[in-house]
Amino acid sequence: MVKAVVAGASGGIGQPLSLLLKLSPYVDELALYDVVGSPGVAADLSHISTKAVVKGYLPADEGLKSALTGADIVVIPAGIPRKPGMTRDDLFNINAGIVRDLITGIAQFAPKAFVLIISNPVNSTVPIAAEVLKKHGVFDPAKLFGVTTLDVVRTETFVASVLGKPDPSVFKVPVIGGHSGDTIVPLLSLGTPSFTIPDEATRDALVKRIQFGGDEVVQAKEGKGSATLSMAHAGFRFAESILKAVSGETGIVENTFVYLPGIPGGEEVKKITGLDFFSVPVTLGASGAVSIDNILPKVSEYEKTLLSVAYTGLGANITKGVDFIVSPTK
Ligand code: 2OP
Repeated sequence: MVKAVVAGASGGIGQPLSLLLKLSPYVDELALYDVVGSPGVAADLSHISTKAVVKGYLPADEGLKSALTGADIVVIPAGIPRKPGMTRDDLFNINAGIVRDLITGIAQFAPKAFVLIISNPVNSTVPIAAEVLKKHGVFDPAKLFGVTTLDVVRTETFVASVLGKPDPSVFKVPVIGGHSGDTIVPLLSLGTPSFTIPDEATRDALVKRIQFGGDEVVQAKEGKGSATLSMAHAGFRFAESILKAVSGETGIVENTFVYLPGIPGGEEVKKITGLDFFSVPVTLGASGAVSIDNILPKVSEYEKTLLSVAYTGLGANITKGVDFIVSPTK
């Protein structure tokens, strides 16, 4: 029996993500938590004739505790989205506290659950989550993930578009680093099946589009938020990979933002990047992250220059997240 929880289930990402989880054959129980609206979303989804039993929870009557108790996997899209002109870091002041409080609940009521963080800025909210879990003595690095799958999804789509290929899903391209602007580093040179981008200007434009793809959606939505539907798809794709691994499927690899020192292979990546958190290809198993593939020695010279920019930005984002919990008065 698998119990999945969506924390932030009434929002723009939360609703379609909850729909996708309701349709998944891997989910038996679906708990939808939010500060408003979750019972309505749950009632709506509960009419769909799939096996997952759906229930909505609000903060009243210890709703967070009830939603989280017995959870196997918690996906967190809670928080506010960007408006045009904002970076993901501009969301820190509001979303950091929301993530801290939800993770405190997870530490108390679902300490063994897989935790998937979508709430931005992911580069900082994942370190926040790690510090809260550490404080409660329940941090398992194999079970905490920042969802960077939308960067992978965008890369597949934009690469296919540049090459004029009809099916983006055939392209597998590692996307490493973080989940914000130039901390997002697509490793086009390691894509499979291998492909050649016609010239440097096209390559540079493609990389920029992948790094700032989220801005296209923010601008197109004209102040009404950021990517919700593609983000829900990406969050679901990652959540389902975890659930498949839990059910015994092997050979599943996802790019995800993790705590490097806590996962086999992570120390090698930390040595090169100087960072504790980084998105890397991670092999998933029944207990979560099994190993990290250190692909850094294989990157091209051009990708090395992208990476050095990413390291600087990420370092600051990670420190900001850690300080929020460890030295809040700083
Ligand atoms: C994005 O990349 C919402 O962070 C999300 O568009």
